[in-house]
Amino acid sequence: MLTRLKLGQFRCFENFEAEFQPGLNLIIGPNAAGKTSLLEAACVMLRLQSPRTSKLGDIIRHEARGLVLDGYYGGAHLQFYYSPRRKKLALDSVEQSSAAEYLRLGKVVWFSNTDIALVLGSSEVRRRFMDFLAVQLHPAYRGALRNYERALRSRNLLLKSPTPRFKELQAFNEPLLESGKLLMAARQSFITALRPLAQLAHTAISGSRETLDAQYIPSCGSDFAAALESSRGEDLRLRQTTLGPHRDDLHLLLSNAPATLGSEGQQRTLALSLRLAAARLMEADTGKPPLLLLDDIFGELDLQRRAALLRELPPGAQQIVTTTQIEWLPQGLAANVLQMPPLQPATNAT
Ligand SMILES: Nc1ncnc2c1ncn2[C@@H]1O[C@H](COP(=O)(O)OP(=O)(O)OP(=O)(O)O)[C@@H](O)[C@H]1O
Ligand SMILES: [Mg+2]
Repeated sequence: MLTRLKLGQFRCFENFEAEFQPGLNLIIGPNAAGKTSLLEAACVMLRLQSPRTSKLGDIIRHEARGLVLDGYYGGAHLQFYYSPRRKKLALDSVEQSSAAEYLRLGKVVWFSNTDIALVLGSSEVRRRFMDFLAVQLHPAYRGALRNYERALRSRNLLLKSPTPRFKELQAFNEPLLESGKLLMAARQSFITALRPLAQLAHTAISGSRETLDAQYIPSCGSDFAAALESSRGEDLRLRQTTLGPHRDDLHLLLSNAPATLGSEGQQRTLALSLRLAAARLMEADTGKPPLLLLDDIFGELDLQRRAALLRELPPGAQQIVTTTQIEWLPQGLAANVLQMPPLQPATNAT
């Protein structure tokens, strides 16, 4: 579990330190106090990735050069420094040349009040959801994703050049296919395992007989090599790689109809069920429940769903929950409470 976390130059914090307990931890404070930022810092320290942005530059405090996160998880000391020029990782004070061992430690599931974007947002949101979890479930996924993105960037650059040569384009097939096939297979197996767990969580939270379905839709069908070959003409015309895992999607259905047609409450419940299922899957995979980070999600749920969600969270999992109010909490619920002071407005020196 996460016991301590120190933030330096992270979002609104110049310096901030927090301690956490096993079980439920509540971060309470007014709007803009930095609650989501603190939760995000826990995620970035453990996963080297923010669930809010793909650009780590965004999370450095304005006008600072780099951020530092320093904390203890499962007894291990984790340190992460990031600036656009330099990245540094240390595990128990030993600098790491690769992130592999560091990332093996902390597993995280992030729940947010913006999760409805999983249903309503673009396919990129759903790919980020799949990638964030698959990286934690498949040891080779992170490397494959990086290799794929690198090869894709180079191929797209070549397609944008005035006269891309056939042989040069062909040279990207091997790295694209090798890493792309691994990503597709991992996504398929992960979604297949997630589906029944999401269905169970959905029934428990909604209390209805509505069915949930999640289907992985690879943009290139099952044969990436053939798709890459047959789309070359289109790629040259549009000057970009039109098919591949970077265009995959996850189709979400409620009682066999597209989830986009559901009510807002139904869509939120669906998104929540996917996150809960991810937590269950991770626990089944590693034997330990992941750290659950829940950003302001209870306010959006009715009483029955709030109680059902609290019941459904894996017992034994450490939970860090942000909220502006605690009135909704069931009486007698034991929790470690962290009260955040309102953010002090920056004062101009005179
Ligand atoms: N890179 C950054 N540098 C400095 N400040 C930032 C940066 N990114 C965000 N902020 C500021 O941090 C403050 C805290 O934001 P945060 O989202 O953590 O608040 P919150 O407590 O979760 O609020 P809410 O209850 O509204 O969700 C905001 O005023 C935001 O503008
Ligand atoms: Mg917030």
